[in-house]
Amino acid sequence: MVYLMSYYTYNTIYNHVFSYIYMIIPSDMDLSEAIIRRHSVRRYTDTPIPPQAINELESLIDECNRTADLHMRLITDEPRAFGGRMARYGSFEGVRNYVALVGPKGPSLDERCGYYGEHLVLRAQQLGLNTCWVGLTYSKIPEVLQLHNDEKLVAVIAIGYGVTQGVQHKSKPVEKVTRLHGNEPEWFMRGVKAALLAPTALNQQKFVFEYRDGKVLASTKWGFYAEVDLGIAKYHFEIGSGFRF
Ligand SMILES: Cc1cc2nc3c(=O)[nH]c(=O)nc-3n(C[C@H](O)[C@H](O)[C@H](O)COP(=O)(O)O)c2cc1C
Repeated sequence: MVYLMSYYTYNTIYNHVFSYIYMIIPSDMDLSEAIIRRHSVRRYTDTPIPPQAINELESLIDECNRTADLHMRLITDEPRAFGGRMARYGSFEGVRNYVALVGPKGPSLDERCGYYGEHLVLRAQQLGLNTCWVGLTYSKIPEVLQLHNDEKLVAVIAIGYGVTQGVQHKSKPVEKVTRLHGNEPEWFMRGVKAALLAPTALNQQKFVFEYRDGKVLASTKWGFYAEVDLGIAKYHFEIGSGFRF
């Protein structure tokens, strides 16, 4: 009993000190480094996200919502979405915080959620947090989400302090995700390499980039969540290349 209590007290103090340290150390990680460090993490500690990091994420969410007509929301201290069978099936543990990627139903919604959701993922990485995009292996909690009839929940992003930092995914070769003509500039190839580090559903990497007449064309083959993946990959491409779509 004494042992259990002291273990609990130690853990609580440790977690709060740990989150405070993250709060006071400013991150100078740039977005290219965040791309390299980011991996999906499915097991989280119970360390709370510090208030300063919550504020930073919420102000970026507000900015992206305004720019792209989205209704994304950060939901904190809500264990039910990742407390059921679906989450266990997806090997999730300890998820209490997530971003709900919501917007008005329409043809470009999935790609916009991908593009702007990845802004949040990389900012979270810069703040020392870990993330995982989740399309399927979670439960929708209607009273938390409170969706309107014209809105769709596209996916969620689990967020918090990971038990590990995750592992690098396997990638397709550049030739499988490009249509090459032999005249591609160096910056185009840097963009493709950054896109290959992007998270995609089932690691499917169905996006295709092409350099033609001085422009970059980005498209996707058919696949589960492929439009969301395309939005994510386009943001990575922009960071890697300096090109803007
Ligand atoms: C749109 C989207 C949906 C995803 N859905 C799930 C999911 O339902 N369950 C899960 O465990 N991982 C999910 N993932 C995470 C992918 O499996 C992961 O990004 C991919 O395997 C590449 O690994 P990495 O993110 O570590 O680079 C999803 C990723 C994306 C982009």
